[in-house]
Amino acid sequence: MVFKMLPGGCQIIHFPKISDARGNLSFVESHKHVPFDIKRVYYLYDVPALAERGGHAHKQLKQVIVSIAGSFNVHLDDGKQKAIVTLNKPWEGLLITNRVWRELSNFSGGSSCLVLASDYYEEEDYYRDYDAFIQTLTASV
Ligand code: TYD
Repeated sequence: MVFKMLPGGCQIIHFPKISDARGNLSFVESHKHVPFDIKRVYYLYDVPALAERGGHAHKQLKQVIVSIAGSFNVHLDDGKQKAIVTLNKPWEGLLITNRVWRELSNFSGGSSCLVLASDYYEEEDYYRDYDAFIQTLTASV
């Protein structure tokens, strides 16, 4: 199920949530709940409250970010539009499309960020310089 539109076609996605007296269970399946094959999973944890993660965009990679514990903010920027999304629900994911700059901040104590990625780690797929990223967007219009 897909909800509001964000920069670059990023989207909030709601995953299934199965609740009973034993607690909650959510699950994510490739192409059913995220629009790609999940080739890699990584996660951030023990993040200090003042730390900032991300600070990059990708040429091709698509990701879905989930707060599986606690909360944090994701700043999105596609060169035209900016938005800040607070993630704090384990049954909710943020799809970040390629060519969208993202910065993660304001991590709560005990928070954990799960990332589902469409491809293996490849440093060549990163834009790590914001000004160069914006220039690339402008050049390709
Ligand atoms: P970095 O891109 O700074 O993390 P974040 O986007 O969360 O701020 O990555 C930190 C280091 O980890 C960097 O040396 C690259 C390495 N890394 C991998 O080896 N594999 C991975 O899947 C990821 C995401 C990072």
